[in-house]
Amino acid sequence: MTVSSAPGKVYLFGEHAVVYGEPAVPCAIERRARVTVDAREDDHIRVEARDLSLDGFTVEYAGETDYRPDVDVSKGLVDAAVGYIDAAVGQARDAADAPDAGFDITVESEIPLGAGLGSSAAVVVAGIDAATRELGVPLAPEEIAERAYRAEYEVQDGQASRADTFCSAVGGAVRVEGDDCRRIDAPNLPFVVGFDGGAGDTGELVAGVRRLREEYGFAADTVESIGDIVRTGESILADADPDSVPSDDLLTELGRLMDFDHGLLEALGVSSRTLDNMVWAAREAGAHGAKLTGAGGGGCIVALDETSETRTALRYTAECTDEFRAELDREGVREEDSADASGEGTSPEAEEL
Ligand code: PMV
Repeated sequence: MTVSSAPGKVYLFGEHAVVYGEPAVPCAIERRARVTVDAREDDHIRVEARDLSLDGFTVEYAGETDYRPDVDVSKGLVDAAVGYIDAAVGQARDAADAPDAGFDITVESEIPLGAGLGSSAAVVVAGIDAATRELGVPLAPEEIAERAYRAEYEVQDGQASRADTFCSAVGGAVRVEGDDCRRIDAPNLPFVVGFDGGAGDTGELVAGVRRLREEYGFAADTVESIGDIVRTGESILADADPDSVPSDDLLTELGRLMDFDHGLLEALGVSSRTLDNMVWAAREAGAHGAKLTGAGGGGCIVALDETSETRTALRYTAECTDEFRAELDREGVREEDSADASGEGTSPEAEEL
């Protein structure tokens, strides 16, 4: 049995524009998906999902990976969760040259699904790491990032950048521009996350921006302007001491850029009333800046505030169902102690099909 975990992320800047070759800066946060993998004698895959913001479920299948058993949770959610696991298994089988390898897989996640915090990337990254180690072919984080990107690309019909998967695999703050992915130095920024309890449809939101960009020159310019914000933000970060508490000036400048970025994302039609309300609650509480994170449409915002004011304001914001401080996680995918997992057994509501 092997166990791996990988972090979720927030976008400091650059989501959506990164799909068109502009740079983006996602930052890994200390909320993880944990995947336990146990090799089987046969070629079946059994998936048990415990906390993917939905009631636990278990599915087992073999051969045709598009076979989906009937389970008592929304088909969309099962398809999404199982689709990512399938793709991760496919990558691990390919890496180990073991096309018939079967696994029992348990997924536990502290990252809400589809809410802009990179839950699927974290599950895919941790899944590939655990499955390849279980097959005796451990991969370097960069190789896992590459394979996780291919897995997401496949599941999301080509609508994926390398940002989420690279960030989750290597951890810390990263810069992604097309195929060029690298870690950058950044201080531990005081991120506060607000969650509206919902989720956006990444594929639809990306397609909406694509249509606007094709139709209007000013929408294409807006996407490029997001790239300019990212470049400005990067140069500010490059001048900061990564090992010190960020100065007030640094936070003010980054916050201003986050506000600007949110305005442009709003103009591109990917915000929502609940996200805007949380953004405004954070700003009015004195956050240095606030923006949606990820695809948008619903899900999470990220604000910069070293005080407790934004968290308090979000707690009193009707649209906000959860808020938390998100520390920068400098560690990417990692092996976990399998002894912790072995005692847990199967959740009572899980049902083998
Ligand atoms: O909502 P998330 O965490 O899946 O992030 C999507 C980010 C986009 O830039 C909109 C798409 C992508 O693949 O980069």
